[in-house]
Amino acid sequence: MIFKPGHEETYVWIWLPGAASPVVCGRVVRQDKTTNSVHRFVYGRSYREQAEAIPLLPHDLPLRAGEQPSRRGLHGVLRDAAPDAWGRRVLIYRLQMAVERGDTELTEIDYLLAGGPGTGALHFQTTGDTYQSKPYQSVSLDQLMSAAEAVEQGVPLPPELEAALLHGTSIGGARPKALMEDEGGQPLIAKFSSTSDIHPVVRLEALGLKLAQAAGIEMVDSKLLSVTNRDVLLINRFDCDSDHTQRRHFFRSLTALDLDEMEARYASYQDLADYLRRFADTPVEQCHELFRRMLFNIMIGNTDDHARNHAMFWDGHFVRLTPAYDLCVIPRIALEASQAMDVGTQGKRATLTNAFSECGRFGLSDNEAREVAERMEDSIRQHWHISCDEMKISEQLADQLWERTVLSPAIKYN
Ligand SMILES: Nc1ncnc2c1ncn2[C@@H]1O[C@H](COP(=O)(O)OP(=O)(O)O)[C@@H](O)[C@H]1O
Ligand SMILES: [Mg+2]
Repeated sequence: MIFKPGHEETYVWIWLPGAASPVVCGRVVRQDKTTNSVHRFVYGRSYREQAEAIPLLPHDLPLRAGEQPSRRGLHGVLRDAAPDAWGRRVLIYRLQMAVERGDTELTEIDYLLAGGPGTGALHFQTTGDTYQSKPYQSVSLDQLMSAAEAVEQGVPLPPELEAALLHGTSIGGARPKALMEDEGGQPLIAKFSSTSDIHPVVRLEALGLKLAQAAGIEMVDSKLLSVTNRDVLLINRFDCDSDHTQRRHFFRSLTALDLDEMEARYASYQDLADYLRRFADTPVEQCHELFRRMLFNIMIGNTDDHARNHAMFWDGHFVRLTPAYDLCVIPRIALEASQAMDVGTQGKRATLTNAFSECGRFGLSDNEAREVAERMEDSIRQHWHISCDEMKISEQLADQLWERTVLSPAIKYN
């Protein structure tokens, strides 16, 4: 059997800023067997006594002795290191396909333990003595894509693809993807198309990332490829360097706002701006960057801008937005749309008026906010055709997007 589920506790390890290997920082234990059981986290004494030790979050889990219970489920910062829908699907598939089939009822702690090395600076293992690295076997992009397809279709996997599966188990998000590196050792996230896609989603995300970069939003490099006629988007990872020695700790905005999955609808850009003002070392610049990301999402029709699609680095002193990710042009039929988070006094309504309504919270006057929006609109107009060509968006789809989604007339409604 590949993994025996039912874990109730794990050691939590962390790569401290600048460190070449992780140290144990504490332990988390599930309190009871209910679905959303409270979990109890405790920092280890030896960790607390280290001069370099950092709390896992700026606003919660202070570096002190004793148990710190979650409100419900796993603590958000630990949950951010666990797989989301896709990684969970891969894990369950692995268990179902194992020769000696395992129980597929997994605890939240199982999800932390079962995967390969994930993103971010946290690592989980059942022992706190020595760090056991879980290196990946090197596999080709084609193998990764075939393994992802087998998972989606629920068909058995040829044995030679088993190693490829591990690459997809410990990363967040719902879409098929895997962690890998290029020939030069650059760590990457590879995002694949899904058998259920009705639009060329991978190319539409590549388009979103391209337009964002042109609009001056902080991005990592990414590249669209076609492998045996299938689209794949390779995105540089922002959480580790190419020799894999150092990791950067980050958490997602849902965690910053102290919300859990079931409360995601309460997230707002304004509250995130308040958070940046509290904890960033360059709060004005960070609030402006967040405001640009919010405007950009409204303008390109990325309505999937929920609080797990924004994240922040934390080095123990300050937070800083990670480069933006998961920016996808999402085709729609209706002109009007709603964002996934509140953008202004009219809630989630995807209009510029709504976005400007609370610009003060982002450190911008009304005029400044309008200028930012004008520059962004100009940039999108200027780069639209060339970006669609580069990302191989058909003329028909590009026209349809331009008419209803990107810079939709509805964003100018009051
Ligand atoms: N460039 C990156 N480097 C490191 N981690 C990333 C990067 N982009 C995304 N992530 C992490 O991976 C998760 C899933 O990525 P995302 O692009 O949102 O996938 P999906 O389209 O499936 O939602 C994110 O929530 C974030 O935690
Ligand atoms: Mg996402």
